[in-house]
Amino acid sequence: MGHSIKQSLSLNKVTANKVSLAPALSSKPIETLYIHIPFCHTLCRFCSFHKIKFNEQVAREYFVALRQEIRTVIAQGYQFNRVYIGGGTTTILEDELIKTIELIKSITPIREISCESDPIYFKEGNPQLLKGLVDRMSIGVQSFDDKILKASGRFEKFGSGLQQAEYLNQAIEIIPTVNVDMMYGFDIQTPESVSQDLQHAIRLTPDQITTYPLTVGMGKNKKKAGQLAGNPNALWPQYLAVKNTMAESYNMEFPWTFSRSFGDKVENKYVLDDEDCFGVGSGAFGRFADQFNVSSFDIDHYIKRIQAGLSGTCYTKELTSKSLIQHHLMMMMGHGILDNDLFKTHTGQSLWQAFPIELSFLLSVGALTKDGNNYHTTTAGQFIALKMFSGFLSGMDYLREQARDLPLQQQSIQTA
Ligand SMILES: C[S@@+](CC[C@H](N)C(=O)[O-])C[C@H]1O[C@@H](n2cnc3c(N)ncnc32)[C@H](O)[C@@H]1O
Ligand code: SF4
Repeated sequence: MGHSIKQSLSLNKVTANKVSLAPALSSKPIETLYIHIPFCHTLCRFCSFHKIKFNEQVAREYFVALRQEIRTVIAQGYQFNRVYIGGGTTTILEDELIKTIELIKSITPIREISCESDPIYFKEGNPQLLKGLVDRMSIGVQSFDDKILKASGRFEKFGSGLQQAEYLNQAIEIIPTVNVDMMYGFDIQTPESVSQDLQHAIRLTPDQITTYPLTVGMGKNKKKAGQLAGNPNALWPQYLAVKNTMAESYNMEFPWTFSRSFGDKVENKYVLDDEDCFGVGSGAFGRFADQFNVSSFDIDHYIKRIQAGLSGTCYTKELTSKSLIQHHLMMMMGHGILDNDLFKTHTGQSLWQAFPIELSFLLSVGALTKDGNNYHTTTAGQFIALKMFSGFLSGMDYLREQARDLPLQQQSIQTA
């Protein structure tokens, strides 16, 4: 699986794009507009996301270019259901963030605006200003255990676990929907300590909790994150601890995302319907249908492209149908139901036509149980979905490594 992810995410055969953004082909809204803010004050040891050390002048120029790119995207007829602002540290220049959200709201209708944040923003920033602008905030806590915060370089930046709990309480008072990111798979964690950590998060009653297995990338991040990671065999008992701890008061949506249980039954919605994503900003990825888009990872280069009227998408790559359906399999297994009719409507193939080897394997190891024409994921199957998810995150890390190394002049050699 890791090998095939690596192959499908290889950027060997990308096409450089040196044209302006083409008008939208359809008036149907794309599910997500992803906006990347690539700045952090200091860098955490495990993190392989695209970010550089904060420099105010560069960051302000960046936000100006970003708003220009967003205006062009909307003017070319693209519409979106929701906006996701990720980083980096999205709140690093609160006034610029607010200006950007206000711009979006003034030029296009949006159902939901979601934004990532570190916890200390709720002490040092002015989060009241985000009222009415941000519907959902995803806050990275990772752990309340000071040993883990110190090992990953977050204690000095964001304070102790207890302090972060205070900041989180404030966030929950201000922001309509709060998600907390937690991590496991560190070498000093045990199933008991993972469970205690999550109990701490649950006591604060955030709407959602995302539990990330620490991912050791395939590129340069491998060494840094690898020093923090525990034995891969320790992940299974830790996953069981996550699942059991969350079960009392949260619904599992995927083996890595949980929502507070309000007694509603989880809808059997076809999860692949809402995956298309258009990325803007330096270091953003986007995907719709079988095309994968990558923006420039060099911030000056990104700003110059936008100023020159070029599309923010610097490179494109056609995705193979094999890599697309593998992603479908991960999402369906994570969701818990492989529904044959829905899959056929969506892809034109039955599950057995699409996954003959995979289904035989998953049934033989007890990862799936048969239910008429459909299949349900067992706990072992959820764990396999989680490992696939971790492989996917690792693949994204590999993609970022390659994208950073793509020569900038490549755009003038090959043109789309
Ligand atoms: C890009 S970060 C942005 C959040 C914000 N800057 C913060 O640190 O609180 C989004 C989330 O990715 C997760 N993450 C980052 N590096 C990871 C890794 N190597 N493995 C698993 N999850 C990771 C963390 O849970 C983090 O909260
Ligand atoms: S985890 Fe968040 S704060 Fe830490 S380096 Fe990554 S983006 Fe920046």
